[in-house]
Amino acid sequence: MKILMVCLGNICRSPLAEGILKSKLSDNFFVDSAGTISMHEGENPDKRAVKTAANHGIDISKQKSRPIRLLDLENFDKIYCMDLKNFEDVISMTKNQEQRKKVSLFLEEAGNHQDCEVPDPYWGDMSDFENVFQLLDIACNKISRQLQQQLINDKI
Ligand code: 4NP
Repeated sequence: MKILMVCLGNICRSPLAEGILKSKLSDNFFVDSAGTISMHEGENPDKRAVKTAANHGIDISKQKSRPIRLLDLENFDKIYCMDLKNFEDVISMTKNQEQRKKVSLFLEEAGNHQDCEVPDPYWGDMSDFENVFQLLDIACNKISRQLQQQLINDKI
């Protein structure tokens, strides 16, 4: 199963989400991330995101930012967006209902009904990155269980 995490720049939130989810899933899953803008294309994640992940034993230092492409909407099974603007931007790229069904707000899928947006830590400090890590870690625990169950159901 192929999972894509999406935020704006693909240097803070979605690289963290990618690294955390990967750490909880087996090799049956491919996890990647992308941004809705290409401004940081080719760059490694923000140093504060790298440090925060490393503090929790996760290495995201070798990831490289890339913009989301139309082909991603065909190739990925699930596309999780970090905030509402990201969600709207990705939905606007979809061509049909099949593609639209793949796109969701990450925290909403993880069961949050209020506060469904992962706040952008880019303009903040290390404590904002740690808060984002904690939010994503809890959500990734729930999402990883859902995805593992879905993989089992798909095989039956
Ligand atoms: P991200 O954070 O979407 O979580 O990667 C941001 C990265 C870059 C910018 C804004 C947010 N920026 O304005 O360049």
